[in-house]
Amino acid sequence: MTTIAVLGNGRVGGNLAAALTRAGHQVTVADSTPGAAADAARTARIVINATPGAGAPERLAALRDELRGKILVDVSNATTDGPDGLPADLLHPGSSLAEQLQEALPETSVVKTLNTMLYPVMTAPTMLSRPPTAFLSGEDPQAKQTVRELLTDLGWHKEWITDLGGIRTARATEAAILFVPHVIRADGFAPFAISIAR
Ligand SMILES: NC(=O)c1ccc[n+]([C@@H]2O[C@H](COP(=O)([O-])OP(=O)(O)OC[C@H]3O[C@@H](n4cnc5c(N)ncnc54)[C@H](OP(=O)(O)O)[C@@H]3O)[C@@H](O)[C@H]2O)c1
Repeated sequence: MTTIAVLGNGRVGGNLAAALTRAGHQVTVADSTPGAAADAARTARIVINATPGAGAPERLAALRDELRGKILVDVSNATTDGPDGLPADLLHPGSSLAEQLQEALPETSVVKTLNTMLYPVMTAPTMLSRPPTAFLSGEDPQAKQTVRELLTDLGWHKEWITDLGGIRTARATEAAILFVPHVIRADGFAPFAISIAR
């Protein structure tokens, strides 16, 4: 059992919090109420960022003390939205949100994962007709091992998890968001994930 704070109580945050609670973890969820994120992060061992990507480095830098020495699991994407509300372009071209977060929080181990799929797949990876991939990006091997175990708790098979390397590799998975509006326009909101086929 691990104490986990989920920042963001929307589709992603609510879904992850419910699944992690079912898996036996002690989970606190914070919405955008002032002070809620700090209160939740203070008492947790692992903090999950499931808030909008825009402005996240500044918002989370304000939690520097609460996040010191902890793992920050970043599942968010930072995009500008098109007129239809779907993601249109990257907010950090030539970098990534994950790198910005790691730079803003040098005493925190940032691990990027689960940002390459629609939210229902995050907690039910066997729902798809073919195995999805969960990518890991981060500088701290121990933190990535801990996140691997959390993914296992969420139903991810070991062979579906791919460690891409350091935090800079999040550029690749964050860029995958550029598929999303086109896939949704083509096929609707049916759950999907980016997967490496072999
Ligand atoms: N939806 C997906 O399938 C999916 C898949 C992969 C990654 N993501 C990423 O996951 C993140 C969350 O997506 P979502 O679909 O769950 O969004 P959402 O349903 O709109 O939920 C966003 C949550 O973040 C909170 N929030 C908004 N502004 C905040 C702030 N300034 N400080 C703290 N909390 C704030 C909201 O709080 P209130 O309820 O109080 O407004 C809400 O609980 C985004 O970065 C998105 O790119 C989404």
